[in-house]
Amino acid sequence: MRRLLLFFVSIQLICGAVPRSAERQAAHLQPILQQADTAYYNNHSSLMSDAAYDALRDQYNRLTFNYPELAQPLQVGAPVALQGNRFAHNTPILSLQKAYSTRATELFLEKCGTNLLYSIEPKIDGLTVVLRYTDGLLSQALTRGDGKRGMDVTASLLAAGVVPISITPPADLELRGELFLTHANFEALNRRRVSLNKPPLKSPRNTAAGTLRLLDYAEVANRKLSIRIFEVIAMNPPSPTHSKALIRLKSMGLPVIESQLISASDVPSAIAALNQRRAKLPFPTDGIVIKANNRMIYQSLGTTSRHPRGALARKYRPKPVETRLLRVEWSRGATGKMTPIAHFEAVEIQGATVQKATLHNLSHLRAMDLKIGDWIHVIRAGGAVPEIIGVCPNRRTGNERTIPNPLEK
Ligand code: IVH
Repeated sequence: MRRLLLFFVSIQLICGAVPRSAERQAAHLQPILQQADTAYYNNHSSLMSDAAYDALRDQYNRLTFNYPELAQPLQVGAPVALQGNRFAHNTPILSLQKAYSTRATELFLEKCGTNLLYSIEPKIDGLTVVLRYTDGLLSQALTRGDGKRGMDVTASLLAAGVVPISITPPADLELRGELFLTHANFEALNRRRVSLNKPPLKSPRNTAAGTLRLLDYAEVANRKLSIRIFEVIAMNPPSPTHSKALIRLKSMGLPVIESQLISASDVPSAIAALNQRRAKLPFPTDGIVIKANNRMIYQSLGTTSRHPRGALARKYRPKPVETRLLRVEWSRGATGKMTPIAHFEAVEIQGATVQKATLHNLSHLRAMDLKIGDWIHVIRAGGAVPEIIGVCPNRRTGNERTIPNPLEK
């Protein structure tokens, strides 16, 4: 008798239970739709395109038709803080090891294997976004953040309309892509700003990042962001190679990075060819990415705490920016060592304003033959640290002044 009872209770549970995936989808869609409705009915603004809203609403209606117990009345007027919350990444979001020379690239290929196939792709200069599809539905988009936790940008991404809300066949996926503004869309945005007497924005990369934080979703949509997916973090069943994974994603309607599959010996010529096309690419790039194509090999190469060993960013040598040297200050370190610090007219390099750089020591300073008032060439070494790499001798007027040596005072 007791067995019979247990049997009936189990049947009841199996038949009546709402699947966890449906619960998660409903919990995800509810606040997005609520936020969109509040904006539309209360504030007369649109958080997303009509098509994006209709697709989300369709998903929600289908879900609550199948599982009416998930339906909750949508409360127009209740503010929802969804966007901007921080969430843990399932896997640490690593970056890429960098190479600035042909020799460093050769060393990478030797370490990984010269008999392997490699995927070679443009390195888009935008920002990483991690996308999670649950049962075919976009369930979350996070920024990289500190690599462990990222900011929820699902609503902005939906508003931007850069990725499909649902994919077929339905699948559980975790993907990584680069969000960016094409040159054309960045210029169009600046033309609009100038016509409205607003200052033009300086860097497409920073603008793309800033756009994700806007609460004006109509403006997010207006700015026309783009995305290219370049990495599968999790996919079931997994693809044996990176190139096959990209093909599969493309067939699901996802925007994937352009990639070429080549042997190690063809990597240098492929880099040169991509280099040639760089100026014609519609998006900003800061290098070329080379990845071991076979996923088992890629995984067996392992990672350091910062990057996978099976991939490399061959960075472009940055274009130096010209500015004027204003003065040199000497800074005394804890050990008493004096370091010359160059102060120059502020310039924007790769999205950051820089105005000083170390000149390391007196002999380095003398070797550079710098004078106060000189036009100098500045880069951000390794994409970060400002460095003076030389002077422009043909821009000298004769009014430049020698840099005093503090030890000779
Ligand atoms: S692969 C595990 N491929 O470059 C690292 N990254 O640090 C997987 N990026 O944060 C990265 N284009 O945002 C890869 N084709 C591409 C890329 C690319 C741009 C960015 C990415 C990453 C940064 C390198």
